[in-house]
Amino acid sequence: MQARGRYCAEKEEAMNILVTGGAGFIGSHTVVELLQAGHTVAVLDNLCNSSEESLRRAEAITGKKVNFYKGDILDRGMLEDIFSAKEKVDAVIHFAGLKAVGESVQKPWEYYENNIAGTLTLIDVMRKHNVKNIIFSSSATVYGDPAVIPITEQCPKGQCTNPYGWTKSMLEQILSDVQHADPQWNVILLRYFNPIGAHKSGTMGENPNGVPNNLMPYITQVAVGKLPQLSVFGNDYDTPDGTGVRDYIHVVDLAVGHVKALKKVQEKAGLKIYNLGTGVGYSVLDIVKNFEEATGVKIPYVIKERRAGDIAACYADASLAKEELGWEAQYGIKEMCEDSWRWQKNNPNGYEA
Ligand code: NAD
Ligand code: UD1
Repeated sequence: MQARGRYCAEKEEAMNILVTGGAGFIGSHTVVELLQAGHTVAVLDNLCNSSEESLRRAEAITGKKVNFYKGDILDRGMLEDIFSAKEKVDAVIHFAGLKAVGESVQKPWEYYENNIAGTLTLIDVMRKHNVKNIIFSSSATVYGDPAVIPITEQCPKGQCTNPYGWTKSMLEQILSDVQHADPQWNVILLRYFNPIGAHKSGTMGENPNGVPNNLMPYITQVAVGKLPQLSVFGNDYDTPDGTGVRDYIHVVDLAVGHVKALKKVQEKAGLKIYNLGTGVGYSVLDIVKNFEEATGVKIPYVIKERRAGDIAACYADASLAKEELGWEAQYGIKEMCEDSWRWQKNNPNGYEA
């Protein structure tokens, strides 16, 4: 697939981007796409859920340099130093945050402190340095149990089932209010559906701590022999085969979506909200079948009880991003499975040697 050529051909004005959480799964893939599109990249990450090795690999793929700052978005002094002395920042792409749904139920204070207080600190320092451009990682989780499927951006936000989800919903509100009060801000809220896949090179991918919570990393760990079998959480949903349906999106497509979203920053578009998904829903059993077909590896599974907080089906109407950003997912489920597997097979212990 020739996705990259197309995006390069439409390259916009080069910018200096600070990527918070840039060593993580989506952040590191976005760093690659930003560098390849000609932007200059600095990363701030406290490495609480990632490894600096991901950035070395991003540098190896692109042949370009990333300025890395190991630090916390709650550390005002460090942010001040970056904005006033170390970097010229045109825009921030803000990935830094804690994201484990189950853990957020056990440690709500830590999630609200890290995600909300961290973002408040970040945007306060940004405005003091007159950097009022931010792209924020939101999630389809803000729709709760969606009122309409496929989900458009007009769909009302819903009740989140966990503190992690609430941090996303609240941060959307906070950033929208900040933009409303000061229209110099350009705030782009990107609502991701379910990112999977990995860089084609097989050198970068998802690196979850401990036993994965999410479906694809669980499947790849079964495939590589680290886990015995997959538990399918419920087969009695109102879906074609009874298992949960989601909109899985290749992480490289998602990364390119951020590069395209910079266009709205350059246009000084104010507040914009986009779904980033493929518009196609796959059930858990569809994913198992597609993974087996794409890789030739059998995935044993058992049907278990529904997981608390899960919904039956969730997939995007991503036509607004196509219309306004010229962005559309390029990769299908076969490539998502192949690329997830190549990463896991080549790096059974993730970024650990
Ligand atoms: P990730 O955990 O791989 O990346 C997040 C990064 O942020 C990590 O490198 C972590 O070390 C860093 N970080 C966390 N708190 C920090 C802090 N206080 N200061 C500095 N760095 C900090 O997760 P990801 O999957 O790449 O997700 C990136 C963003 O996208 C997150 O905000 C997440 O909530 C959001 N998101 C992810 C998904 C998904 O399925 N992966 C879906 C929707 C939204
Ligand atoms: C979950 C989070 C969401 C978060 C996203 C990315 C919940 C309720 N939602 O989305 O807030 O943004 O992860 O981190 O947790 N499944 C199995 N067996 C498994 C794992 C998953 O059957 O071992 C099923 C789930 O029931 C679901 C589908 O696979 O139907 C996808 O699950 P998952 O990858 O965890 O993503 P979400 O639940 O959609």
